[in-house]
Amino acid sequence: MTQVRFRQALATLPTYVAGKGEAGKVVKLSSNELPFPPDSSVIQAGVNALSSANRYPSAIGSALVEKLAARFGLEQNQVVVGPGSIQVLANAITAVAQANNNVIYPWRSFEAYPILVGITGASSRKIPLTEQGSHDLKAILEAVDADTSAVILCSPNNPTGSSLSAEQVREFLKVLPHTVLAVLDEAYFEFDTSPGHVDGTDLLADFPNLLVLRTFSKAYGMAGLRCGYGLTSPQVAAAIRKVATPFGLSNVAEACALAALAAEETVRQQVGEITQERERVLNILRDNGWNIPQAGGNFIWFNGQIGAEIQAAMLSQGIQTRGFPEGLRVTIGSRTENDQFLMVMRDIKPS
Ligand SMILES: Cc1ncc(COP(=O)(O)O)c(C=O)c1O
Repeated sequence: MTQVRFRQALATLPTYVAGKGEAGKVVKLSSNELPFPPDSSVIQAGVNALSSANRYPSAIGSALVEKLAARFGLEQNQVVVGPGSIQVLANAITAVAQANNNVIYPWRSFEAYPILVGITGASSRKIPLTEQGSHDLKAILEAVDADTSAVILCSPNNPTGSSLSAEQVREFLKVLPHTVLAVLDEAYFEFDTSPGHVDGTDLLADFPNLLVLRTFSKAYGMAGLRCGYGLTSPQVAAAIRKVATPFGLSNVAEACALAALAAEETVRQQVGEITQERERVLNILRDNGWNIPQAGGNFIWFNGQIGAEIQAAMLSQGIQTRGFPEGLRVTIGSRTENDQFLMVMRDIKPS
């Protein structure tokens, strides 16, 4: 038994529960992944990068930073990249929060938030979602006090799928004290087809306390490679870089991300396929009497107790979904996978 003294904050950290199931062995609709493998050009770029794996990658992912800055019309010192947007978020929270501070976010939302906040020693203020599964922006603002270091918004929200409008976020940011870091987690941005939905990159010029998070894990189908990024002001980016692990992004992940940006047509087509599938699945379920909220991501949400019943029925047929105390999240997969899911749903009565 070790006698190492761990930080007290660790005692209360929740454990991250990853979506279960090994793709290929079960139908895996539990982790909001893309069902398609990366484009062959992305795979080739990864293979090529492996031949120089004896060398360290760029300390800050300079080639990808340069590409992303050009793409979004930003300066390079406004872009940070890292091994997944989770890591960029972890660095951002570490840069602003410490013991006696609080970080505010909607709940239920992405389950990494309480862990990342807890690690810093700050406390989490979880603001319940509205009945429609959306952010209660008014209540979030009311919870801000002098000790608030950051607020996290997630649009579309994981796991409920609701998205925020550009107008809502702009009004929110006008009121939020500019000393508070505002994180807008847009991990599922590319799947959002709701009219007027927020695009955080449009707000960066007006709000230097804003950090927009995007990822290659979802729409770009690179979850296993770990690559995400943040877009923000030079000052926030510099603070994130200070706490980031040097060489955090591997040369393989960077090369693949660059290739994925160049293979935009494939990404557009695959995202289009998923959003079409999402609407097909939603229409069928709604026609059958299911009340499913707005779904802006590559997943749908069943609110309430019925989620547990659906999850059990799916599991009995080898289909993995992701259950939460408040409901069930089901990832939109390939057409075949979605049909398998819908087949099981035929035997369940809407509550
Ligand atoms: C809302 C949200 N943000 C961030 C992430 C993590 O993304 P990444 O793989 O880039 O770390 C996820 C992954 O499920 C997510 O749902």
